[in-house]
Amino acid sequence: MAYLVTGCAGFIGSHLSERLLEQGEEVIGIDCLTPYYDPRIKRHNLENLTRCKNFTWVEEDLLETNLDEWLRKVDCVFHTAAQPGVRLSWGEEFHTYIRQNLLVTQRLLESIKNSGREIRVVFSSSSSVYGNTNQLPMTESAVPQPFSPYGVTKLSSEHLCLAYHANYRIPVVALRYFTVYGPRQRPDMAFHLFCRSILENKPLTILGDGAQTRDFTYVSDIVAANCAAARRPAEGEVFNIGGGSRISLREVVTLLEEITGRAIPVIHQPSAKGDVRDTWASTEKAQRLLDFRPQVSLREGLERQYAWHRDLQTSQRM
Ligand SMILES: NC(=O)c1ccc[n+]([C@@H]2O[C@H](COP(=O)([O-])OP(=O)(O)OC[C@H]3O[C@@H](n4cnc5c(N)ncnc54)[C@H](O)[C@@H]3O)[C@@H](O)[C@H]2O)c1
Repeated sequence: MAYLVTGCAGFIGSHLSERLLEQGEEVIGIDCLTPYYDPRIKRHNLENLTRCKNFTWVEEDLLETNLDEWLRKVDCVFHTAAQPGVRLSWGEEFHTYIRQNLLVTQRLLESIKNSGREIRVVFSSSSSVYGNTNQLPMTESAVPQPFSPYGVTKLSSEHLCLAYHANYRIPVVALRYFTVYGPRQRPDMAFHLFCRSILENKPLTILGDGAQTRDFTYVSDIVAANCAAARRPAEGEVFNIGGGSRISLREVVTLLEEITGRAIPVIHQPSAKGDVRDTWASTEKAQRLLDFRPQVSLREGLERQYAWHRDLQTSQRM
C-alpha cells in the first residue's frame, strides 16, 4: 500500500513516515518546511526518511503542489501538515493559520473528491478543539468550544473533513491528539523547553501557577493510532488519542528531578492567552473502535525524550 504523509518533516509526520517505511510501505512525503520553527530542524527530521528507497520526498507547498499527481499513487493520506501552536495564533498571524490549516485541508479534500478514487484520510486534529471545560475527561460527544484561534482552525478543518465524508463519502477519520511528546518534539513545546533548560543549567519557566494539567501522549502511541485508523473500517468518526497520564506541570518538574537526579529551579510567568486549564482524554471510543491503548508511560517517555536531548547536545558539542 502507498501512503501520502503531509507534514512529513515535522515532529509527528517524520515519526509516522518512519514507522510506515519500517513496515515496508511506500511513502510520499510532502512538506514545505515552513518557518514556524527552524527549517534546519525539519531537514534533520528527514534524514532517516530520505535514505530509504521507498520514500519519495516532495519539498512543496500543499496549496501549490500538483496534488492530483501524488494522489494517483496512494490509497491513504495522513494529513499532519499544519501551522501548530496556540500562543502565536492571535492577531496578524491568524491568516497563516487559516491558510495552513483550513485552506490546505480544503484543497486536499477537494482533490480527493475529484480523483474519483477511494482515498482514506486520517486527519491530525487536536484536543484544543474542546477549549476550557469542567467536563473531564473530555469525550468526543461534548460540544467543542475552542479557546484559541488555533483551536478554531483545527475544529473547522475537522468539520470540513466530516462534511466531505457526509456529502461525498470520502472515508475520513479525525484523531484529536492530546499534547504529544518524545524525541524531535517541536522546540516551542513545554517538555522540549524544560529538557533544554535543564541541560543548559538554566531555571525552567512555567507559564501560570503550574497546577494546570495535561494528558501527555508519547509520539509512538500517536503513530500507532494513525496506523490503526488507516486499517480499521471506522469512517466519518472523531477519536480522542491520549496517553492516559494526566499530570500537572508541577508534577512534571518533580518527575524530571527524579529522572535527572537534580534539583530544578523554576521561574513562573503569566499564563498565555489561549492555554486551557486542563486536558484529559476519554479514550474509550478509540479503544473500542480502533483497539487503541497507549503503551508508553509518562516516566518512560520522558526518560526517552530527555535522553534524546542529552545525545543531541553531546553531538552538537563534538
Ligand atoms: N504536537 C502536538 O502536541 C499536537 C497536538 C495536537 C495536534 N497536533 C497536530 O498534529 C499535526 C503535527 O503537529 P507537529 O507537532 O508534528 O507539528 P510540526 O510543525 O512539527 O509539523 C507540521 C509540518 O507541516 C508542514 N506544513 C505546514 N504547512 C504546510 C504546507 N502548506 N505545505 C506543506 N507542508 C506544510 C510544516 O513545515 C511542518 O513540518 C498538526 O496538524 C498539529 O495541529 C499536534
